[in-house]
Amino acid sequence: GGKNLAIGPNLTACHSSYGRPDLLVYCCPPGFQNPVPFTDFKFPDTSPVRVRRPAHLLNESFIAKYNKALSIMKSLPYDDPRSFHRQANLHCQFCTGAYEMLNSSGSELNIHRTWMFFPWHRMMIYFHERILGSLIGDDTFALPFWAWDIPDGMTIPDFYVDKSSPFFHSQRDFSHFPPRVADLDYSPDDNDPRFDRKEQTETNLAFMYNRMVSGAKKTELFMGCTYKAGDKNCDSPGTIESAPHNTLHTWIGSGLNPGREDMGKFYSAAKDPVFYAHHSNIDRLWEVWRDINDRKLDIDDSDWLNSFFLFYDENLNLVKIKVTDVLDITKLGYSYEEVDRPWLNHRP
Ligand code: C2O
Repeated sequence: GGKNLAIGPNLTACHSSYGRPDLLVYCCPPGFQNPVPFTDFKFPDTSPVRVRRPAHLLNESFIAKYNKALSIMKSLPYDDPRSFHRQANLHCQFCTGAYEMLNSSGSELNIHRTWMFFPWHRMMIYFHERILGSLIGDDTFALPFWAWDIPDGMTIPDFYVDKSSPFFHSQRDFSHFPPRVADLDYSPDDNDPRFDRKEQTETNLAFMYNRMVSGAKKTELFMGCTYKAGDKNCDSPGTIESAPHNTLHTWIGSGLNPGREDMGKFYSAAKDPVFYAHHSNIDRLWEVWRDINDRKLDIDDSDWLNSFFLFYDENLNLVKIKVTDVLDITKLGYSYEEVDRPWLNHRP
C-alpha cells in the first residue's frame, strides 16, 4: 500500500491559536507537555442502549436528570478533563488549529471544513454523553438532539432558554429565542427575519432537501474534502457542515459580540450547552444520509479510517479512538429515536 497519511494530533505540541483573525486564544489542556499514557478504544457494553431523543419531546424527568448531570459537570475543577470547561476547550483545540499534526510538524490540525468534521464531533459527543451519565450513575443517559430539520423542532428547545437552569447561556441572540423559527440558511447580513413563520418553515424544508439529497449526491459533497497528514489545502465543508451547521451556530450566538460568540465562533461554541444538542442532530443526519444512500457513498479510504484522536473517557482514561471505531453507532451503544424526514418530499 501507499504511505500512511492518516491524521492524528501531536499531543505534546499545543500552542495558542486564533479564535478570530483578531483574537489569540489559549485552550491547550493543562500539562500537555508531558505525555499521558493512553489505551486503545474498546467498544462499550451495548446494553442498555442510550436512545437519543428529540429535545422538544423530552419529559420533565429526563430534563431534571440532564440538569443534574450538567450542573455537576459545570462544578468540576478545570484540572478534571470531565469538567464542562475542559469539554468545551476540546472543541477550541481541534477547531482553531491549536495542535500540530503527528508526523507533520508545523501543520496545524483543524477538523472543520474537511472530512474529519462528522467523525470528530461524533467522538466528542460520545465521550461527553458517557461522562454526563457517569456523573449521575445513569448508564442509560443519552444526549437529546435538537431536531431543527422538522417543523416541530425548528425553535430553540424550551429548556435551553430557562434562565434558572444550567442549559441557559447568556451569550446568545435573545431575539432568536422561541417562538422564533430558526433560519437554517441564516446570514447576519440578511433581513432578520427573512420570512414569516410559515414561509420560514417551508424554506427550511426545501433547504434540507438540498443539503441532504440533491446537493449531497457525491461523497465529498456531503462529507467535506479529503484531508490527510501534511495537507494544507483541504478547505471545503460538506453541505450540512456549511449550512445548517455553521449558519445555526451564527444564528444562536450573540449579535453583540464581534464573532457572534459564543456559538458563532468555534473557539467558544462548546461553552453553550445547546452546542451538544445541535451536534447530536448533525450526528443523526450523518446516519440519515448514509441510510438514504444505502451506505454506498461511505468513505473507504484507509487514511480516513485510520485517522485518530484522543479523548478522556468517563473513567478519566485517555483513549485513542480511530475513525473506523465510530462508523457503527450500534457498537457505540447509542441510537436515535426515529423522527420524520419531512424534507424528503420537499424538492424545491
Ligand atoms: Cu466543531 Cu458545530 O462545530
